[in-house]
Amino acid sequence: MSGTAFETIAGLVHARAGIVLGADKSYMLDTRLGGLMREHALPDLDAVAAKLRGPASERLAAAVTEALTTNESFFFRDGKPFEHLRRVLPRLAATRPLGHRLRVLSAACSTGQEGYSVAMVADALGLASRLEVVGTDLSTDVVRRAREGVYSQFEVQRGLPVQMLVKHFKQEGTQWRISPAMRALARFETGNLLADLRPLGTFDVIFCRNVLIYFDASTKTRVLSALADRLAPDGVLYLGGAETVLGLTTRFASVEGERGVYALSHTPVLGSVSA
Ligand SMILES: C[S@@+](CC[C@H](N)C(=O)[O-])C[C@H]1O[C@@H](n2cnc3c(N)ncnc32)[C@H](O)[C@@H]1O
Repeated sequence: MSGTAFETIAGLVHARAGIVLGADKSYMLDTRLGGLMREHALPDLDAVAAKLRGPASERLAAAVTEALTTNESFFFRDGKPFEHLRRVLPRLAATRPLGHRLRVLSAACSTGQEGYSVAMVADALGLASRLEVVGTDLSTDVVRRAREGVYSQFEVQRGLPVQMLVKHFKQEGTQWRISPAMRALARFETGNLLADLRPLGTFDVIFCRNVLIYFDASTKTRVLSALADRLAPDGVLYLGGAETVLGLTTRFASVEGERGVYALSHTPVLGSVSA
């Protein structure tokens, strides 16, 4: 692949998704884009880049971008945010009118495990009837899978406690389907974090985990600022283990003693909530 082809593809993915593809990632283009090259009868990456530079390339551009996202996810990923959520949801519920549904955003939701983990936490707390989860992701493929709510044996073995598997999933051959009750609590939509997030409304809790790591600093700042605009004044933001707001924005402050948990700056911090 020529340097120009790499620049074209990396530039496209950065412009469309905010994702930075360093030159050290050029090795993955062949593997990730192999299927698309066959589908579009393009012999190599130079031909892909040439087509992307030409007219009527929107469908290919979207497909290339999706193919270069990393979609790994699993139930109750990292554990701690969900332990914190277990303490925070009752407090948030108590401070909202009864008719208020607690709105949780799973931004960059991938195949839905994060959103369904939130639903299972709310169920365990007796708060399911007060919950609404909205999951959004750039990739139409993962959103379709999240909506289906069907997972392999391997996927349900990663992080999902067995009693939750038994309670909330039904076995279908070698697959496991999320229960209609949990499915009904979550809505999954395609959505780009670089787009206008205002139509999503306001959230009591935002999960935005393991996606900022793919962005450059200015994109991280832009996305964090848009999320701050979407968070209720006493709401909570969860970031991934390798992510932080430090050096990017002052709109969030970390919740003392709680790694990866943030509140809006200058608002009551929920870190003191006892177990
Ligand atoms: C590694 S997964 C994280 C899934 C989940 N949040 C978790 O922590 O398990 C990253 C996801 O971010 C999505 N993504 C990447 N760039 C995005 C963007 N600009 N807008 C929305 N989603 C994006 C990818 O499609 C992918 O599904």
